[in-house]
Amino acid sequence: MAMFAWCAISFGILVCVSADLYVHNPRGSNNRANEKSATRANNNRLFDSQNNARGGYNYGDSAANPSQNEDQQYRMKYFQSGLVGNSELMVEWTNQHGCGGDEDTSPHKLNCNMVLQFMCQDDKSTAAPDDSITLRNGANTQTQAYNKPNNDDENEGTVRNRRNANVQAGRGLHESWEWYDYCYRRERNKGLFVADQNLNDNNQGVSSAIFTRQNPNDNRRGYECPEERDYYPYFHPTPWVDIAVLAHNASSCDYYTENSFNSKPYGECVEEFNDGKRKHWSTANNPEACADKGGQWVEYHNYLELAPDFAASEANCLAQNNGNTGKVLYKWGKPYDVQKIVNHEEILDTCFVAAPPLDCQPADWSRVNHLGNGRDGQPLSYKWTLPYFPGHKDKRCVFRMRYNISTDDYDPFNTTSEHNEQKQNNVVVQRSPIEQNPLVNIGANGQLLQLAINTDQTGRVFQDRSHVFLLLTRKDKIPDEANLKNLNVRGKRGNIVQVYPAIEYDFVPNRMNIKESDLVHIQWTGSNTHDNGAPGGDGQTGDAGEGKDGSDRTNVVEILEPGENFPVPYERNNMFKNMEVVWNSLDTHGTTDEDKQKNIAIQMASVGYFQCLSQSDCGPDSIESKRALNNLLDNANASYGGIVFKLKEGVYHYMCSRNNNFSNRSQKGQITVTK
Ligand SMILES: *[C@@H]1O[C@H](CO)[C@@H](O)[C@H](O)[C@H]1NC(C)=O
Ligand SMILES: *[C@@H]1O[C@H](CO)[C@@H](O)[C@H](O)[C@H]1NC(C)=O
Ligand SMILES: *[C@@H]1O[C@H](CO)[C@@H](O)[C@H](O)[C@H]1NC(C)=O
Ligand SMILES: *[C@@H]1O[C@H](CO)[C@@H](O)[C@H](O)[C@H]1NC(C)=O
Ligand SMILES: *[C@@H]1O[C@H](CO)[C@@H](O)[C@H](O)[C@H]1NC(C)=O
Ligand SMILES: *[C@@H]1O[C@H](CO)[C@@H](O)[C@H](O)[C@H]1NC(C)=O
Repeated sequence: MAMFAWCAISFGILVCVSADLYVHNPRGSNNRANEKSATRANNNRLFDSQNNARGGYNYGDSAANPSQNEDQQYRMKYFQSGLVGNSELMVEWTNQHGCGGDEDTSPHKLNCNMVLQFMCQDDKSTAAPDDSITLRNGANTQTQAYNKPNNDDENEGTVRNRRNANVQAGRGLHESWEWYDYCYRRERNKGLFVADQNLNDNNQGVSSAIFTRQNPNDNRRGYECPEERDYYPYFHPTPWVDIAVLAHNASSCDYYTENSFNSKPYGECVEEFNDGKRKHWSTANNPEACADKGGQWVEYHNYLELAPDFAASEANCLAQNNGNTGKVLYKWGKPYDVQKIVNHEEILDTCFVAAPPLDCQPADWSRVNHLGNGRDGQPLSYKWTLPYFPGHKDKRCVFRMRYNISTDDYDPFNTTSEHNEQKQNNVVVQRSPIEQNPLVNIGANGQLLQLAINTDQTGRVFQDRSHVFLLLTRKDKIPDEANLKNLNVRGKRGNIVQVYPAIEYDFVPNRMNIKESDLVHIQWTGSNTHDNGAPGGDGQTGDAGEGKDGSDRTNVVEILEPGENFPVPYERNNMFKNMEVVWNSLDTHGTTDEDKQKNIAIQMASVGYFQCLSQSDCGPDSIESKRALNNLLDNANASYGGIVFKLKEGVYHYMCSRNNNFSNRSQKGQITVTK
């Protein structure tokens, strides 16, 4: 704007933390583990969220008491898509600064984009080995350690010793230790715009990828690489697979699709130890610098998994694409195989399953200064079609979402290091288009006004990530061709002000429209330590709700009308007698269909505490022989693997008997089934 003129610079550093991106399904951690406090204990635990300290959900507990170790935690278990049928997971979130919409009818005051990604590996029998690569939540709130390298020429033995001294089984881990070590050493992209921020050097004298405009002071969160976090599409290979970009403008989708690592290989510099093994790092970040170091610039592909039937040659590999449905694409090349990198093994050309193409769409409209719904009162959501892994192995995964906002004060896609502030002898000889908290002259007799501009936050990326979950291969009577929809529970213990900026309990999706042939997987997870105690940060502490303090519980009972708050007696039920269960996380007991349906209703109402009615069907787990269930479900498990079912045509209503509390909280859902 022409009437504004810069006239002075103030160098005050504003520490401002605001509330920004919270994923509610799957439950976003916002870096929480199991803390009883309303604020998260450690905002550096796994990733840089830039969010308010109060958001997020604890990892799930399997049982009725807090987990003592990772094995006792509950991991959501979603079934993978089939080769033909899809599995859908409704991702829901809130974002504070708005996004999306149309420039003419609903203009926004910012530019934005959302990036949805995941990372998977084969599931392991040990929940939390002490290696540097296995995805884990950790059992406590501590960050993995990192000791800086002593020199750039470490040998494999020293580097492994350093890693082994750092990485612990009991702490959360997403990116590998080697990923951060590489980031620590690799020269940063010096073409990027950093405004008037002063970026330092690491202990080897390299201004490396741990320093960015948004992270000028080298803060470390987990083993996340700050440069990779801040920039998308990233210009080097990353361990993350793209799901979707929700773009500010559909016109930028070609750019995102072309440059997504899912479809475009990216290079990094590969150097070797003296014994010829592959180093996991190089300081070089481009082919020329790599050649100078005697390294080799190698391009890697993103991928879902290695091809199951190892096709030994390129021709055999590509031949596997003949006649497939298009969901699986085999490629020949060098996959970005994190396991090999961590093992210091060379990555050779091989046959791999390509990452599915990026889904780019314009972002839906959302309101500014508000952590709420989008248009028509609908939650902000994205329907994620879960991947299909032709290798038929169970996978262990994490989901990540970033929300990126920038302004028109400078062209975010055309402002580079050439526009950075430049000084000679401590005198500014070139100003940055944005400066820290500038004083501006609005042309009124020299009266100056200060603007709240933080150059490390103008252009800012927020992030949330899920806890670890599993993507299971389809089993039992879940056919490959069936479409499967996940039905889960969002929210946590407390009333609306106590849980904020998380949310109160509800089913997600709250209303489902399905066909008789569709499958629904109902499942939920909860914590036993959502006490929301002190410190409360800038919100209220307390955990108003039913049942034992700090405990999340859910069950499902049928109601006849959405306006009712009494469950129907079993004799009058519609839902269970019209239900066919094709998979049960417990056993389905009973001989007649009627008995089986009744026992399913008992499992759903008691969270599996009772598995059936009569002792002759399920022995000690029957209502006849087990001690009473607490009527607020306190002694039932916090999490429940649930059932996969089909329903006959009709409209069905259900609620949670414990959390539904008319005038305070509604936890009710609806499923409409058509032929
Ligand atoms: C999207 O980009 C097109 C072409 O650059 C432009 O005409 C349109 O106004 C943009 N829409 C929004 C919402 O920015
Ligand atoms: C965020 O937007 C900026 C442009 O302002 C872009 O340079 C950067 O790559 C984006 N980062 C992410 C994570 O989307
Ligand atoms: C960047 O600026 C140059 C020259 O000012 C212009 O030609 C180019 O179209 C701009 N690129 C984008 C992506 O806006
Ligand atoms: C319903 O919720 C309110 C607020 O949390 C609580 O005060 C009240 O006791 C609850 N009702 C029952 C029946 O528990
Ligand atoms: C409850 O959790 C315990 C501990 O994980 C588990 O052994 C038990 O099978 C669970 N019960 C049900 C009904 O899921
Ligand atoms: C709802 O919550 C309020 C405040 O927490 C409480 O005073 C009231 O009794 C609750 N209503 C019901 C029906 O329990």
